[in-house]
Amino acid sequence: MASSPHSSSLFHHLLVFFLLLAAATAFPVTSEFELGIQKRIHFRVYFHETFIGPDNTTVTVVNMSLPYTFGNIEIYDTVLRVGPDESSTFLGRVQGAGFHVSMREEVMLVPLVLVFTAGKFVNSTLTVIGRLDASGKSERAIVGGTGVFQYAWGKLVTETVTASVAKLVVAYDVYVVYYDDLHLSAIA
Ligand SMILES: *[C@@H]1O[C@H](CO)[C@@H](O)[C@H](O)[C@H]1NC(C)=O
Ligand SMILES: *[C@@H]1O[C@H](CO)[C@@H](O)[C@H](O)[C@H]1NC(C)=O
Ligand SMILES: *[C@@H]1O[C@H](CO)[C@@H](O)[C@H](O)[C@H]1NC(C)=O
Repeated sequence: MASSPHSSSLFHHLLVFFLLLAAATAFPVTSEFELGIQKRIHFRVYFHETFIGPDNTTVTVVNMSLPYTFGNIEIYDTVLRVGPDESSTFLGRVQGAGFHVSMREEVMLVPLVLVFTAGKFVNSTLTVIGRLDASGKSERAIVGGTGVFQYAWGKLVTETVTASVAKLVVAYDVYVVYYDDLHLSAIA
C-alpha cells in the first residue's frame, strides 16, 4: 500500500534533516602524509633488573599468595644497557608491568615500553606486549613506537643471561620495522 502524500513528505523532511546533521558532524580529512622509507633492523640490548638494594627496579604491588603466583602484579622501571655488564653504556629504561596470569605454571603477561634516553635512538620508544614464562626465553610483539621508531612493528626475542635472587640480566634481540621520516633523518 502506497503511503499518503503527507507521511511521504514528513519522511523526506526527516531524511534531509539527518543528512544535514551527518554532513555537519563528519570529521574532515585535512591531509595525507608520507610514511617515509621502510627500514628493517635488528639490534641487541640488555635488560638489567635489580630486586634487592637501594637501586632495586621492581616492586610487587599485588601479592595474592596463590600457587604459581597467580594474580600477582609487579611494576618495574629497569635499566637498558649496551651489554650484559653492569658498567656497560646506559641506553635508557624498560618500564612496564608483569601480570601473573596462569593457575598452572609461572606465566606473565608483560606490557612494556623501551624508553631510549641515550645513544642512536635517543628520545624514541618501542612498545612491546607479550607472554613470558619461567624459561626466560620469549618472543613478544612490538606493537608500536615513537620518535625514530614511528609506525613500528616487529618482534622482541629474549633470553636470560644471568639470574640470581638479587639481579636478572636478559638479552633483548629487537627486530623492528619502522618508517624513517625524511625530516627526522635530515636533522639527525
Ligand atoms: C628498594 O629501594 C627502596 C628505595 O631505595 C628501599 O626503600 C627498599 O628497601 C628497597 N627494597 C629492597 C627489597 O631492597
Ligand atoms: C607474597 O606473600 C607470601 C606470604 O606472605 C610470601 O611468602 C611471598 O614471598 C610474597 N611474594 C612476594 C613476591 O612478595
Ligand atoms: C631529546 O630530547 C631532549 C629533551 O627534550 C632534547 O633536549 C634533545 O635535543 C633531544 N635529542 C634529539 C637527538 O632529538
